[in-house]
Amino acid sequence: MSDSNIVWHETTVKKEERQARNNHKSCILWFTGLSGAGKSTLANALEHTLFARGYNSYVLDGDNVRHGLNKGLGFSDEDRKENIRRIGEVAKLFVDAGTIVCTAFISPFKEDRDRVRELVEEGEFIEVYVRCSLEACESRDPKGLYKKARTGEIPSFTGISSPYEEPENPEITVDSDQISIEESVNQIIAYLVEKNILAKEV
Ligand code: ADX
Repeated sequence: MSDSNIVWHETTVKKEERQARNNHKSCILWFTGLSGAGKSTLANALEHTLFARGYNSYVLDGDNVRHGLNKGLGFSDEDRKENIRRIGEVAKLFVDAGTIVCTAFISPFKEDRDRVRELVEEGEFIEVYVRCSLEACESRDPKGLYKKARTGEIPSFTGISSPYEEPENPEITVDSDQISIEESVNQIIAYLVEKNILAKEV
């Protein structure tokens, strides 16, 4: 089937209407960083706080999404690119649905992250660099994967045998080897309030 036979259908309920009813804007909080940097932990801690305060949020997590939607994708550059492309499209749908979506993927390539940024409106893509030294990630090694990467049992492992391109201008940088999860969550919430995505709590 040719793409030219598929016609975009405008939705009846608009994103702005969903946001107005939710009393907050929707956006993508794009957590990026090395394996073990704390992306999932932080995304989940943030969502817990957002949820408790009555905001609509959702977490898309690399390890989980690779069990379903992206099952079958590996860790070659091409597969990672496709992984991020699909997540970008899914995250865009969440924004349209009025949700604050937190994505936790290594997303090692700048070009792939920038492509997701282009999918949504200005201000809707918030890159959160979960910065943590390779040494700290490797010493944490929560899943024992760095050990396997060092012996070559896992090829193309980010930070060891596959590159990680640091964000050049992330909206938020969280130094996860220096501050607590609670402080990191507060840092992100403060940014969301400053940008009027969340209302200031009185
Ligand atoms: S990404 O590079 O495509 O963004 P993603 O975040 O989905 O990666 O998945 C990373 C997770 O897969 C890691 O946290 C780790 O648990 C696991 N993993 C398995 N093999 C690799 C590998 N070669 N490189 C990085 N992570 C890997």
